[in-house]
Amino acid sequence: MANFWKKLPVPFLALAPMQDVTDFVFREIISGTAKPDVMFTEFTNVDAIFSKGHNKAVQRLRYSEKQRPIVAQLWGINPENFYKSAKLLKELKFDGIDINMGCPDKAVVSRGAGAALIKNQTLAKEIIAAVKDGARNLPVSVKTRIGFDQIVTEDWISFLLEQKINALTVHVRLAKEKFKGEAQWDEMLRVVSLKNKISPDTVIIGNGDIKSYKEALCKYKKYNVDGVMIGRGIFSNPWMFENISPTKAHETREYLDQFLKHAKMYSEEWGSTKNYEIMKKFVSMYINRFKGSAAVRNKIMLCKTYLQMKEVIKDWVLSAEI
Ligand SMILES: Cc1cc2nc3c(=O)[nH]c(=O)nc-3n(C[C@H](O)[C@H](O)[C@H](O)COP(=O)(O)O)c2cc1C
Repeated sequence: MANFWKKLPVPFLALAPMQDVTDFVFREIISGTAKPDVMFTEFTNVDAIFSKGHNKAVQRLRYSEKQRPIVAQLWGINPENFYKSAKLLKELKFDGIDINMGCPDKAVVSRGAGAALIKNQTLAKEIIAAVKDGARNLPVSVKTRIGFDQIVTEDWISFLLEQKINALTVHVRLAKEKFKGEAQWDEMLRVVSLKNKISPDTVIIGNGDIKSYKEALCKYKKYNVDGVMIGRGIFSNPWMFENISPTKAHETREYLDQFLKHAKMYSEEWGSTKNYEIMKKFVSMYINRFKGSAAVRNKIMLCKTYLQMKEVIKDWVLSAEI
């Protein structure tokens, strides 16, 4: 299978993997509004894929053709399970496999996974080799940070590039910072210079604090990365990846329609297997910028089902004559 990373436009824009955000439903919705050049699944634990509760883990890996190119992200510490997961992802016909080496969450780091791998090159090397083995010719990438509690770009990024991975995403913060402070984009200069020296074929993606399409293009020009990844920025604009500058204004009606479409699909896809409260994360993404939105939001927050949400929106549309 061809390395899709090399076929993307330059620069390309990626939607970041986000737990409880970039599930099947969100990716489907974003594919229909303004689609990024590449998307990732939420991170999936390699042990869970082969555990008793594997159905839940495997459901996280559902995607549609519309979502391609689609990369599955894995996390864990067991190279054997990474190998088996990579084989499965190859069978599931993903476009690529990404390994999480940047998650700072306590539950992940305390198990030696995610960002803890920055401090364990021996295991990181084994995991990358296992995934490459299982993935055969599927491209393998890593997503990481510039250090755990201190900047180690030179050492850590050099090490990753020596593994000859196909793509590397760097969230330019320390793991211990989580999301605090400003992303240190100047470290990207060092990352790109290391790539040119060590592994010119590796595609480099910069990540951290990007809030608009225009800003992503500025970062590309300034830092010479191949692509830019946007995470939380999508919450301020569901049409973030629209290649129109300045971003075309969307009508209130479009926001409401998208919200209801999202809420309905969420309810159909997840039913009672996922807490419907998680859907409420997305409310202010759609119901935000118009007169009266705070009141509508408050009512939506009290709803327990899609049908209740639909009623709130219907009543409001009638009263506001939208
Ligand atoms: C709610 C949430 C969930 C996240 N889940 C993941 C994940 O599953 N895998 C991952 O590699 N990063 C995850 N991240 C980190 C993002 O992919 C991204 O690196 C980070 O948000 C910085 O980019 P941003 O400033 O554009 O948001 C998550 C971030 C957020 C806010």
